[in-house]
Amino acid sequence: MAGGTPAERKAMELLVALGDIYGADRLIEVTSVHVSGASYKIIGDAGLEFVEEFSKSARAKVPTTVNPLGMDLRAWRETHIPEAFALKQARIAEAYRRMGVKETWSCVPYQVGNRPRAGDHIAWAESSAAIFANSVLGARTNREGGPSALAAAITGYTPNYGLHLEENREATVRVIVRASLKGYEYSLMGHHLGKLLGSGVPIIEGIAGTEDELKALGAAIATSSDITMFHIKGLTPEWETAIRNTPEVHEVERQDLERVKEELMSGEDYELIAFGCPQLSEAELEEVARLMEAHRPKVPVWAFTSRLVADRAATTILRITELGGRVVLDTCPEVMPLDLVAPRVGTASAKAAVYLPSLSGQKVVIDSHEELMRKKG
Ligand code: F3S
Repeated sequence: MAGGTPAERKAMELLVALGDIYGADRLIEVTSVHVSGASYKIIGDAGLEFVEEFSKSARAKVPTTVNPLGMDLRAWRETHIPEAFALKQARIAEAYRRMGVKETWSCVPYQVGNRPRAGDHIAWAESSAAIFANSVLGARTNREGGPSALAAAITGYTPNYGLHLEENREATVRVIVRASLKGYEYSLMGHHLGKLLGSGVPIIEGIAGTEDELKALGAAIATSSDITMFHIKGLTPEWETAIRNTPEVHEVERQDLERVKEELMSGEDYELIAFGCPQLSEAELEEVARLMEAHRPKVPVWAFTSRLVADRAATTILRITELGGRVVLDTCPEVMPLDLVAPRVGTASAKAAVYLPSLSGQKVVIDSHEELMRKKG
């Protein structure tokens, strides 16, 4: 690596500098990488120039997936994306393609083929994906930034610190949940926990949750805090070894979630329902189709997912589109310019309820998938 291409040398310098800052004893090999920083809305012209320049001499050495773009690459015109935006977005996509990154355009790499095993050292950007990988899969990653994940992709290494080390994965605080949760309430709960704790590694007691509910929980925790790992008693892979030293205890009750919901409401009505933050799985798409059939919502429904999930859910997508819904691929409600279409949005995601107002000035109503479809908007 002492030689290497300009991009490889730059990447190694970045990783060594990061390791020095965090006191890493060495660089370790990673088995998978997930990079962020693919939406033109988020990274702008400076980001476009950086990835284009970098891609001239950078090639991914380990399996690498990438976060959502700022538009549906194939159907951007149908979602009112300005042409100038689309041209620049396409250049960013091309730069990642050139680097050998898998064209997942998804924030849920673990649902589109990049699913590490317990104990694997990985380098994942995208806070919602990193927290899921640590907590639910038992893989080991810090919450990487776009550049450090990209550096790991083209060198195959990351500095050995933080959540790569056993001792930093132990629980630091206990949370007892005294309410039974379902669906989007996991997202409310995650927002609440992040606000309450701020940092550390919580062990949560009293919840179970499907994979998609834990995906929502982690995304919301990582939005409202620095937390990048949690354990769930009786469920997640490392909970038994993590529980050694947890003197601090918090309790969560239903009224906490009701208060969080009030806090996240920035609007009173909505002209579009946007589902998929994080992007929807096959099971979630199926739920959207079923609820649309049951409630025939009067406001447009846009369901955000990845092209790989869409390929597996073709029949479900047909049902959604036949009922007037739109399935948007490669992007998500926050990193595309959805504000050009809908300044007022209905969502079931605490992360979306934070970012739609802060990134794009949109007003948000947060509720369950079912309630949003049942209401008039
Ligand atoms: Fe994913 Fe976009 Fe939400 S990247 S977690 S859907 S903000």
